[in-house]
Amino acid sequence: MIPEEQSKALDAWQTSARYWDKYRVLIAQMFAPLTSGLVDEARIGTGQKVLDIGGGSGEPSLTISFIVGPTGSVMYTDPVAGMVEAAQAEAGRRGLTNIHFRQCSADDLPFADRTFDVAVGRLSAMFFVHPVTAVREALRVILEDGYVSFVVWGPKEANPFFSTIPDVIERFVEVPRRDDPDAPDAFRFAVPGKLTGILKSAGAKNVIERQLNFQITAAISFVQFWQMRTEMSETLREKMAGLAPDQLPTIKQAVADAARRYFVSGTMSFPAEALIVSGRKSAA
Ligand SMILES: C[S@@+](CC[C@H](N)C(=O)[O-])C[C@H]1O[C@@H](n2cnc3c(N)ncnc32)[C@H](O)[C@@H]1O
Repeated sequence: MIPEEQSKALDAWQTSARYWDKYRVLIAQMFAPLTSGLVDEARIGTGQKVLDIGGGSGEPSLTISFIVGPTGSVMYTDPVAGMVEAAQAEAGRRGLTNIHFRQCSADDLPFADRTFDVAVGRLSAMFFVHPVTAVREALRVILEDGYVSFVVWGPKEANPFFSTIPDVIERFVEVPRRDDPDAPDAFRFAVPGKLTGILKSAGAKNVIERQLNFQITAAISFVQFWQMRTEMSETLREKMAGLAPDQLPTIKQAVADAARRYFVSGTMSFPAEALIVSGRKSAA
């Protein structure tokens, strides 16, 4: 990515930060299975020192701070000031004292070698500027017997929570095609083996990739889902801004029709697919 694109991407995350904060309770609930997956894969337990890379509005740091307990600690990191502020404010509200905050990018971690037991990233690896450098950095700052573990989205087709709205919009307006499959994007590592290859190139050992199928569930209506998605996603904010005012009700209705089966008895439930890729610093 050229520096201008990088700063545009970070500006977009800065704009997103207030919405990730606004929907923090839903986010924690909807994506909790991803945190559990990371905790299992990275063998996180009481007393450990854990690095969270790209922690957004606070997950998985906030959950992990509870798991490691008072004898352990979490270092939350994110390059976006608005995300760091939101996560730090929430930790303060909860009175958490074993969680620390640093604003930094995954590609250049401001920590000494072998500072942490493990490093994890939930839904952030696909936005790293130089993924191999970032994984190398994560391996550098963990202990010799430590694990790194990243969870990313599987294919768009297996994730209607994300695809339903853009698929409908594309029926109404022309949307520019993505031509670079390696550009930062939610589905950058959706192809099995791609993130595994990155970990191996960075020097990780015993690399394992697991597919995680789960339901994105919350007690919200379609209208609440629509509002949350169109506020939280930079891509959708951009697409919505390009629509003529008279297209909006038609598109919203078409999305409601397409999404009907995911909203039953006041509950939203979308099938979802993620990949968890983990490795060790040294071969077992
Ligand atoms: C989809 S959000 C995920 C946030 C959080 N981990 C969660 O699961 O709720 C992606 C996060 O990656 C962060 N990010 C973007 N570029 C990054 C980079 N170069 N290094 C580390 N994190 C980055 C963003 O600021 C954002 O907070």
